[in-house]
Amino acid sequence: MNLNTLIEQRSSTSHYDASKPLADSQITELMRLATLAPSAYHFQNWKLIAVRSSTAKARLKDIAMGQTQVESAAVTFIICGTLMPHQQLTTALRPSLDAGALPQEIADSWVTSANASYADNPQLQRDEAIRSASLAAMTLILAAEGMGLSTGTIGGFDTPAMIEAFALNAEEIPVILVTAGYAAEKRPQKPRRPLSEVVELV
Ligand SMILES: Cc1cc2nc3c(=O)[nH]c(=O)nc-3n(C[C@H](O)[C@H](O)[C@H](O)COP(=O)(O)O)c2cc1C
Repeated sequence: MNLNTLIEQRSSTSHYDASKPLADSQITELMRLATLAPSAYHFQNWKLIAVRSSTAKARLKDIAMGQTQVESAAVTFIICGTLMPHQQLTTALRPSLDAGALPQEIADSWVTSANASYADNPQLQRDEAIRSASLAAMTLILAAEGMGLSTGTIGGFDTPAMIEAFALNAEEIPVILVTAGYAAEKRPQKPRRPLSEVVELV
């Protein structure tokens, strides 16, 4: 399907056909595509957890305010953003250097600049974690829809409970959940606010 059409037809699903699972290879492919999202300095400051076993789904449903789509969806991805991105930037850029996709002097300047900007700025680290995780989440949604799956987004969850249940460390912030699977019921996309209220050409 053409990407514009896919965007025009996407809507959030909260009722899935629980009898239709996804293969782990499909789940992994969705996460691979999500990690092709852009991130500042190519930090790739994210972590994705695929919740697809019935025990893990039950745990996640409790944390997500009892929202039943977490159980009926084939998989729910916990998309985390990570703090202290400057500390792992040299490692994150290594494959780009090896592939000749990034000149050494640019990589060096990014590391210097990122250290100067992020090291003493926890607010910026958090903003960046949320930006990166959000872009990864939207990329995953479009990839899943492109595979003929339905998706939904969940922001309603208990963050401390999530951190504990999925053993996230102090640098991993759960930002958003994305459910994916085969819809039991498909709703039309809701109309949006008038363009004139939300856009500006300058
Ligand atoms: C950050 C965020 C948090 C959301 N949280 C929830 C949620 O907890 N439960 C839910 O059913 N839908 C949730 N949604 C889905 C929105 O209600 C939905 O995207 C919105 O109504 C627009 O509908 P559409 O996605 O079908 O276009 C969330 C969406 C976003 C982007």
